[in-house]
Amino acid sequence: MTTGIIGTGSFLPQTIVTNDYLSTIMDTSDEWIFSRTGIKERRLVKEETTAQMSTQAAKNAIENAGILPEEIDLIIVGTITGDYITPSTACEVQAAIGAVNAMAFDINAACTGFIAALHTAHMYIQSGMAKTALVIGAETLSKIMDWNDRSTCVLFGDGAGAAIVQRSEQGIVAFSQGSDGAKGMVLAGQSRKNNNPLVNCGHTPDYIHMDGQEVYKFALTQVPKCILETLDKANLQVDDIKYFVLHQANSRILKAVAKRLGTTDDKFPITLDTCGNISAASIPITLDKINREGLLNPGDHIVLAGFGGGLTWGATVVTIC
Ligand code: ACO
Repeated sequence: MTTGIIGTGSFLPQTIVTNDYLSTIMDTSDEWIFSRTGIKERRLVKEETTAQMSTQAAKNAIENAGILPEEIDLIIVGTITGDYITPSTACEVQAAIGAVNAMAFDINAACTGFIAALHTAHMYIQSGMAKTALVIGAETLSKIMDWNDRSTCVLFGDGAGAAIVQRSEQGIVAFSQGSDGAKGMVLAGQSRKNNNPLVNCGHTPDYIHMDGQEVYKFALTQVPKCILETLDKANLQVDDIKYFVLHQANSRILKAVAKRLGTTDDKFPITLDTCGNISAASIPITLDKINREGLLNPGDHIVLAGFGGGLTWGATVVTIC
């Protein structure tokens, strides 16, 4: 027995912000953004919070799975932009959906957050501590962007994605996860400053800042390696995989990973063109898209892979149940 994905859901805020709109409020252009990233537009919150978007994604996943909220005994949210330090987003979701029998907590693994949450849920289920888990990736990245820094703020968006997972005959086949804290400051922010009178706050970053070229190199080295390692554990080949659902950072990264794996980029579903990079939310949102388009059939093997701040990375091979 393993852990199967039995339902998916997602939620995006209403407000669409196009590259053309951004070019009216900062020195940028659709041509610069699209040619370097593949992003055309993103959704940004006006009223919505991380917990509200998570709750809506969760409700959609619960409906898709055909279960009751009371059946959920574990809720994990991967996020770096919860509404509060405490309560966790997972506890807020628990209250909002009435999952009264669940234990709930958040995980911070940045853009690998959904993968880390999924692996954790798998471990809880395999150990017998949980039977049915709600796994969410959700971000309100717009609140940690420096809107005067055109090199980062144009890349990101807001939203949430969710999956219901349960003990099942088919599901997670193999997984890998890693991190390299020594390179953490390549993609860092937002510091929580200690303003007690003894502390000199120093120059830690207020908002997300990124060495884009270092992140690019990291992704191209680590992601194919992690995927191949996981496929090896699963006794599967690249050609056995129907879709590679990757963290949606940049279309150039997706194309380059496809090339390094010796496969075609049509196996890499895309949501970044309309969503931008939504960190932990990007994998479950993309998974929900292909699920709702009817592209997943029982027995299909897919790979989910995330990479990002920390630095962190992880991949999972899943057989659709
Ligand atoms: N509009 C117009 N010009 C811009 C913008 C913008 N939004 N942002 C930066 N520029 C300018 C810079 O000022 C610079 O100008 P200069 O040459 O006159 O100094 C020029 O464009 C090039 O800037 P670079 O930062 O070198 O741009 P680069 O070509 O490296 O592209 C990018 C940046 C897209 C981020 C690239 O480094 C990349 O693809 N990195 C991969 C990392 C990534 O995608 N990160 C996403 C988030 S991280 C994650 O999810 C894991």
